[in-house]
Amino acid sequence: MDTNCPIGFFDSGVGGLSVYSLFKKILPYENTLYFGDLKNMPYGNKSKTELLQFARMILDFFKEQNVKAVVIACNTSSANVYDIVKSEYDFKIYPIIQSCAKVISNMNFKKIGVFATVATINSGAYKSEIQKYNPNISVVEQSCPKWTNFVEGGQIYSEECLSNIKTQLDNMMCYNPERIILGCTHYPFLKPVLTKFADEKMFIDPSEIFVKFIFDDLKKSNMQRISKEMGTEKFFVSANPENFVNNASLFYKVNKLPSIV
Ligand code: DGL
Repeated sequence: MDTNCPIGFFDSGVGGLSVYSLFKKILPYENTLYFGDLKNMPYGNKSKTELLQFARMILDFFKEQNVKAVVIACNTSSANVYDIVKSEYDFKIYPIIQSCAKVISNMNFKKIGVFATVATINSGAYKSEIQKYNPNISVVEQSCPKWTNFVEGGQIYSEECLSNIKTQLDNMMCYNPERIILGCTHYPFLKPVLTKFADEKMFIDPSEIFVKFIFDDLKKSNMQRISKEMGTEKFFVSANPENFVNNASLFYKVNKLPSIV
């Protein structure tokens, strides 16, 4: 395999940048592609059949770009389609939930909350993946159907967003979780608001665990690009490139308008 081949990242929109930005800090020499499926966003209210169709469209596109691996920087797709697509392509595919569950299950908590999209919560993926490694952890799952749209709509400081976040947190706190997983890659964008109502330490952002997992696996599999030159990057969207650049800015500076695919 040519280690100079790029690694593809995808999400419904800017959310996956919470993973991508960290990846670029830790592995700046990798060549990367990022696909934001803004035409089909939000993924959280889509059926498994639709999510599969979107994922295959993006994975086929990445295949044409000759990727060496793909990072599913989207919990909803990881939960609903990873098990199906993993054997359909000859490059490695990294899913966020399955890659982080072991580390989370070893954190020695008895009760963990999960905020995620409706499609992720309905799949039960966080609960089953965590309990696979530690059946004694109780996992409280709660969907936040509006949160992705607050991020993609540039409305994270709106009255509606603030009050929705407070209500969701109040509901979750009734169960007394020791930590809450931000189980959608868009949710770290809401941290400035979440931390108005709860201590930052309350939240687990799986992207840190995920990027470490990818780093270790690339190394172990001899897939890392060894170069003194910084990696190249290209952004693609299925619609609305201007919105992508504007909303991305909280996590990553995208210097050029993404190409529409
Ligand atoms: N950011 C994605 C996730 O991690 C999808 C959010 C959405 O489009 O609803 O689940």
